[in-house]
Amino acid sequence: MIYRDNPLKDLPWAEFQRLGQSEKAAHFKRNGRPYHALLAQQFDRPMLERLCDLATKIRRIAKTRGGMLFLQDLLREKRAMLYFAQPSTRTFLSFYTAGQIVGLNLAEVRDTATSSEVKGESQEDSVRVFSSYVDMIIMRHPEGGFAERIAWLLSNTTRPVPVINAGSGKDQHPTQALLDIYTLERSFESHGGIDGKTVAFVGDLARGRTVRSLAWLLTKYRDVRMFFVAPPELQIGKDILAALDAAGVKYELTADFAKVMPEVDAIYMTRIQDEWDQPGESAQRDVSTFHLRAEHLARLKPHAAILHPLPRRAEIATEIDNDPRAMYWRQVRNGMWIRAALILSVFERDAEADRYYQDLTS
Ligand code: NCD
Repeated sequence: MIYRDNPLKDLPWAEFQRLGQSEKAAHFKRNGRPYHALLAQQFDRPMLERLCDLATKIRRIAKTRGGMLFLQDLLREKRAMLYFAQPSTRTFLSFYTAGQIVGLNLAEVRDTATSSEVKGESQEDSVRVFSSYVDMIIMRHPEGGFAERIAWLLSNTTRPVPVINAGSGKDQHPTQALLDIYTLERSFESHGGIDGKTVAFVGDLARGRTVRSLAWLLTKYRDVRMFFVAPPELQIGKDILAALDAAGVKYELTADFAKVMPEVDAIYMTRIQDEWDQPGESAQRDVSTFHLRAEHLARLKPHAAILHPLPRRAEIATEIDNDPRAMYWRQVRNGMWIRAALILSVFERDAEADRYYQDLTS
């Protein structure tokens, strides 16, 4: 299918770069759906609710063999490329299996050392070549903003394809934020939903891109309060705080994790992203007061949800894994379903899943 109404076409790069993130985000949508999925800022509340609802429908449809085969037929004629220029197993597999659920044919490049980049090809050229073979690019890259650059570049070729950001530098991880929202929504299903909840983000908030994307998405919910719990040098970026101020969100920055524990409905734990450290920097840092241990469980609210994007180190003691409040294993499953929902929406095949679901339940 040749895509009409390509939202990024004919917008000069210099002009695009000058836009704020919310203004950029307007160029990533098409027909009320995500086309490129690059920034958390592009998802408004109706879109978030739609994706969560679609993910739930897909997971129910997939419970039978007939339903699974129906889903696998939806994008049977489409191909996608997974281009992961940064370590990943869970996000890679999550997208891989999500693509399989809706029938996408998948190709992958994970090790740029085996690609023509070693012959001096620019990364832009590499991705442009990949895009010629496929109908979608799903990419992870160490450089913030690179996925945007690729989306812009491809939009201005004769064969544009949508680009999904599977993690970019220290700045954004929008699909992780989608699965986090989906997990919070399900966790609070019988507690009034996400509106009015208090969320603590704990750990490396300076370089944890999942936190940055999720804090942004949470501004779409009413009366959500946030605590940012971190050592001062790893506190959340001023750009996120400015976005929260603009959205009228109440928040507090603190290093006192113990004080925050009984006050919150959700705790979002993160690992120290020491791959960005200078040599020796991490050895000097003691982050043990930002760990959640078994003895803390009694201090948490009975319905509190404990999340972690994974991989985990010592941030959450393994004794907590079987506590009913531990949601991090469910996050993994939820990620697969909501990524399947996102892929279907991008290709505008979501209404077919709606119809199948309706027949199933009527
Ligand atoms: C996160 C990431 O890559 O940003 N992992 C993930 O995608 N689940 C978090 C991390 O690496 O700590």
